[in-house]
Amino acid sequence: KRPAGAPDKSLARKVTKVGVVGAGLMAGQLALLFARRLDVPVVMTDLDQERLDKGVAYVHGEVDKLLKKGRINQDKANHLKALVTGSLTKDAFSDADFVIEAVFERMDIKKQVFAEVEAVVSPEAILATNTSSLSITEMASGLRHPERVVGFHFFNPVAVLPLLEIIRGDKTDDASLATAFAVSKKLKKTSVLCKDAPAFVVNRLLTLFMGEVLGAVAEGTEPEVADRAVAPLGLPMSPLMLLQLVGPAVGLHVAETLNEAFPERFAVSPQLKAVVDAGKTAIFAPDLSIDPEVKALLAGG
Ligand code: 3HC
Repeated sequence: KRPAGAPDKSLARKVTKVGVVGAGLMAGQLALLFARRLDVPVVMTDLDQERLDKGVAYVHGEVDKLLKKGRINQDKANHLKALVTGSLTKDAFSDADFVIEAVFERMDIKKQVFAEVEAVVSPEAILATNTSSLSITEMASGLRHPERVVGFHFFNPVAVLPLLEIIRGDKTDDASLATAFAVSKKLKKTSVLCKDAPAFVVNRLLTLFMGEVLGAVAEGTEPEVADRAVAPLGLPMSPLMLLQLVGPAVGLHVAETLNEAFPERFAVSPQLKAVVDAGKTAIFAPDLSIDPEVKALLAGG
């Protein structure tokens, strides 16, 4: 059955090569998923060789894990590793027909990335963004072909979570959207078409939920208590572990975007901002106790 709002699939274009801008954790997960499910070459790019090598090494490490678990055989592992390569220049995208960006969540950076990619790809190549909250329409503005820009928002861990929010910008055309849905199907994701509204759907819910948990902690509830108190709700992961998984900076960014759009509905937790400003990327210590410095910051100390 065609997902609600998806255009006729006959409009979808073939995807024979994928480009991934960024080589961070999300980008690495995307590169592996595209190589595995689409079975096409995937080239990653980043600002420097060190980050790029780290990104490709992450993908190869995940391939080794799949091999170890018996999910793929040695031939498939070698094949997947050969499919995913890195390049420092976006020229490597010249024959890519689907490029997805997963770079830092800032509109100016993402617009710049798309302008650079547009300069090398064909006019019909899809430019997809994994943004968690920014406007697709604004990101596409200024491009020669804004009709090929689509929001393609995955959830962490990408290999496991089935949902994909597909976002149509004001100018996105049916062929690009049909291609996005066809790709999603090959990736075996459950896609939903979302309106281009701040943080789409899922992150609005998560931000409210997370904001209330952080608020309870700021008001004096022990973080361990708040974190465990919601376990009986049947959530797969505790709120603070989820915050660590997505990254405190990403969580803060989504909250800031929503606060800007709907100040009366979404607050930015000053405690979360303090955690991010302190450069903390993890909430928990290796022994899974809450990092004492983070604990003090969450309590407003
Ligand atoms: N990367 C890749 N695979 C992972 C992983 C990771 N970080 N974490 C877990 N997995 C895999 C495991 O390898 C395992 O795979 P297998 O079945 O092939 O062996 C499978 O997931 C299940 O893992 P576990 O049995 O170890 O653990 P759980 O059953 O507790 O599941 C979980 C782990 C799937 C991460 C689960 O806790 C979960 O669903 N948590 C909620 C995650 C969530 O809500 N994410 C959304 C975040 S919001 C977001 O990303 C949007 C952004 O814009 C902010």
